[in-house]
Amino acid sequence: MQREEKKEVRVFAPATVANVACGYDVLGFAIDAPGDEVVVRHSEEPGLRITQITGDDGKLPLEAEKNTAGVAALDLLKHLGMLDRGIEMEIHKKMPFGSGLGSSAASAVAGAYAVNCLIGEPLTKKQLLPFAMTGEASADGAWHADNVGPCLLGGIVFIRDNQELDIANLPVPKDLWAAVVHPDIEILTKVARGILPTEVPLENVTQQIGNLGGLICGLIQEDYGLISRSVHDVIAEPRRQKLIPEFYKAKRAALGAGALGFSISGAGPSVFALCEGEESAKKVGASVSAVFTKVDLTNQLYVSRVNKTGVTVIG
Ligand code: HSE
Repeated sequence: MQREEKKEVRVFAPATVANVACGYDVLGFAIDAPGDEVVVRHSEEPGLRITQITGDDGKLPLEAEKNTAGVAALDLLKHLGMLDRGIEMEIHKKMPFGSGLGSSAASAVAGAYAVNCLIGEPLTKKQLLPFAMTGEASADGAWHADNVGPCLLGGIVFIRDNQELDIANLPVPKDLWAAVVHPDIEILTKVARGILPTEVPLENVTQQIGNLGGLICGLIQEDYGLISRSVHDVIAEPRRQKLIPEFYKAKRAALGAGALGFSISGAGPSVFALCEGEESAKKVGASVSAVFTKVDLTNQLYVSRVNKTGVTVIG
């Protein structure tokens, strides 16, 4: 339903954990923090202009057609036949690049959602998915909705087909918490995808499908034991772990502290643990953080429930 246009809109788009171990490119969830902010307002001058970017160390282009948030917004405006609308955009990056936290997806989602809200919400959140996807793909060159989907819609999102963008929200067990730790190194998604095998033994495919099905059943049935037995990745993690210092020490620490499961968040270097309850997540997060700190690797810990809201207007 079309609403009234707004003068100015500020939105927050949350970080996301993609893959969730066994769901390479097909499963992801949103967390409460960190996240990116985008502000948009009307302007007399026709076209979309990015007027300010903060928190990017000067790395991001101000040209809208080269910027992840700008590309997503332009794709939406093009679809609506509104490319001549005068709109100013500010982007406030509040999470690191190449972090495995869905940084480019957050910017893309924020760009498309902010503009959609400004012009009176002609499209639903779900309808914004392809435009946000185009924005993210302009940054990492790949087409997977496991960051964009949960960032936009919130919750735990399963993608049946990335081309058709056939996606569904899964139920979130009420005591499910995540501890996400970002060690301060950068891994380009392109590099982390490049080291994956092009062929996978059938035995591994069978295991991965079993675990993915088990995780989905565990979420539906609130069966933490089944969730725990299912959070394993036999395809990407064995290859990607070498990009993350102390990965197996961190994994042992997390499981030893009571995590249900532990793996790489998206393409890394962030890692995540699923936990039952906040106290457990805090304890697990602290033990993982300590492993990185011990080798002088600065890191940030985020303890969060699954964020069920996704991108949201904050002003
Ligand atoms: N599913 C993607 C990958 C997420 O693992 O490459 C990247 O953010």
